[in-house]
Amino acid sequence: MSQQPEPTVQQLFDLTGRVALLTGASGYLGSSFAQALAEAGATVVVGSRDVARAKEALQALPGPAQHHAVVLDQMDHASLESGFRAAVKAAGKIDILVNNGHEALGKDLTNVTGEEFTRHLGNATSYFLLARLLHDHAVERKAPASVIMIGSMYGVVGSYPDAYAGLCNASPVAYHTLKGGIVHMTRHLAVYWATDGVRVNCLSPGPFPNEPRVPHEMVERLCSKSPMKRMGKPHELKGTLILLASDAGSYITGQNILIDGGWTAW
Ligand SMILES: NC(=O)c1ccc[n+]([C@@H]2O[C@H](COP(=O)([O-])OP(=O)(O)OC[C@H]3O[C@@H](n4cnc5c(N)ncnc54)[C@H](OP(=O)(O)O)[C@@H]3O)[C@@H](O)[C@H]2O)c1
Repeated sequence: MSQQPEPTVQQLFDLTGRVALLTGASGYLGSSFAQALAEAGATVVVGSRDVARAKEALQALPGPAQHHAVVLDQMDHASLESGFRAAVKAAGKIDILVNNGHEALGKDLTNVTGEEFTRHLGNATSYFLLARLLHDHAVERKAPASVIMIGSMYGVVGSYPDAYAGLCNASPVAYHTLKGGIVHMTRHLAVYWATDGVRVNCLSPGPFPNEPRVPHEMVERLCSKSPMKRMGKPHELKGTLILLASDAGSYITGQNILIDGGWTAW
């Protein structure tokens, strides 16, 4: 009996014919994720709370696939559902979900209110609800799917108080709680959905500050905490994203992959 030839590396990473829904596509890392998916051949459905921002993100994407834009506010469950349905309608199906959107919180452990803390955790609720929509869609289609949660090194380690002291709020306690929860939710969903062919993984960036939006002094302090002594650049996440999205990652599920210049290796 003749054996099927092994797929090549090019075939494994190729996303031609796949559709990816990406939330927060207009953002600092999201715009790079959208580029990566399009460059790998996928049709990308970009999500934003704002239709003009979604269209702008769409314009920036390379072909040959045709891309689409949907309005999706992850803090509003009706909008999550309508955004997902609009994405399926526009592209015909969804194979890959990148849960990247993030409603930020400027308050830390000294000044956050209970309501603000609870609202912030709603970012995780939406990651789950969107992931379940993709799971149910994939099961209905009898097709495999990949969910990629965007976590953070701060879902795995505490921050250094002296990196922020005197400059800005500390990294928010609600953020650490949120991202730790997302890392662990990944494992739970991966186990339940493995036999349905739905893989669930988490990509956790280390420090990727969007300068000049943050104090330069803080960036210098963060660099001193990193084994590589520098911050990450958005394109340094592209390879791992495509690994997890594509057949190259077909035996990877339930994992949290940290891309952090060695930050969590100390
Ligand atoms: N940058 C870093 O150093 C770093 C490190 C670790 C982890 N991360 C994670 O990486 C992800 C992207 O971060 P980033 O630095 O690229 O942030 P960013 O530039 O602020 O982008 C965040 C995106 O989230 C979207 N968003 C905000 N509220 C939303 C809502 N209610 N519903 C749906 N989308 C919403 C925004 O899009 P619209 O305004 O267009 O809706 C925006 O494009 C986040 O999950 C973040 O926690 C970042």
